[in-house]
Amino acid sequence: LLKEFGKEETSKLFSDFTCPKNPDVEEFIRSPSKAIRFEESDQSRTYLILDDETGLILAYFSISFKELFLGGFDVPKNQIKKLDGMRKDVERIRVFLIGQLAKNYSVKNNQLTLKNILEEVYAVIDQVRTLVGGRAIILECEDNARLIGLYLEHGFKVLNTIEDTDQLITMYIHISK
Ligand SMILES: CC(C)(COP(=O)(O)OP(=O)(O)OC[C@H]1O[C@@H](n2cnc3c(N)ncnc32)[C@H](O)[C@@H]1OP(=O)(O)O)[C@@H](O)C(=O)NCCC(=O)NCCS
Repeated sequence: LLKEFGKEETSKLFSDFTCPKNPDVEEFIRSPSKAIRFEESDQSRTYLILDDETGLILAYFSISFKELFLGGFDVPKNQIKKLDGMRKDVERIRVFLIGQLAKNYSVKNNQLTLKNILEEVYAVIDQVRTLVGGRAIILECEDNARLIGLYLEHGFKVLNTIEDTDQLITMYIHISK
């Protein structure tokens, strides 16, 4: 998109994206677009799901990878082994990260759901995984019961922290076959 239309046109396209439920994900894509800066600096890749007929952005998600420090989490040893794939005493694991994910509330009757968006996320990560490995995906979401419940319904689990914190909630899903 950036190569074909350039920064200005791409930013214009993004400026119609609204997500009142989560200002952070709205801000990431809207002008001045962090999504473009992250793309240019290879921090993450942002994917758009477009409506076939209208070309409108129905949803977007950003994917990256990170090393997750397990120190602050209360993770059973067998879970650590499952996440790492080899050992139950590791402190850090490498994971894919869903950095952003949201649907566009500017689009009337936007029928896209989390299920549809996650299917696209898995399609991308599956390709990377085939080439370089990787066993889990994480996301960091607001401490909101409804949002957490939604991810639980789609197979994600909460990584419990040792102490209560005001921080974001980390959730993960295994993707190894
Ligand atoms: C996540 C999302 C794509 C799921 O879409 P969906 O499958 O169509 O599900 P819905 O939008 O109907 O959301 C399900 C419920 O979760 C709630 N919810 C979703 N995101 C929420 C958020 N960030 N904060 C609080 N509640 C939220 C919705 O209000 C809804 O609650 P209700 O059923 O009581 O009305 C969409 O809700 C969204 O874009 N949310 C805002 C962005 C976001 O928070 N992304 C997560 C970043 S980790």
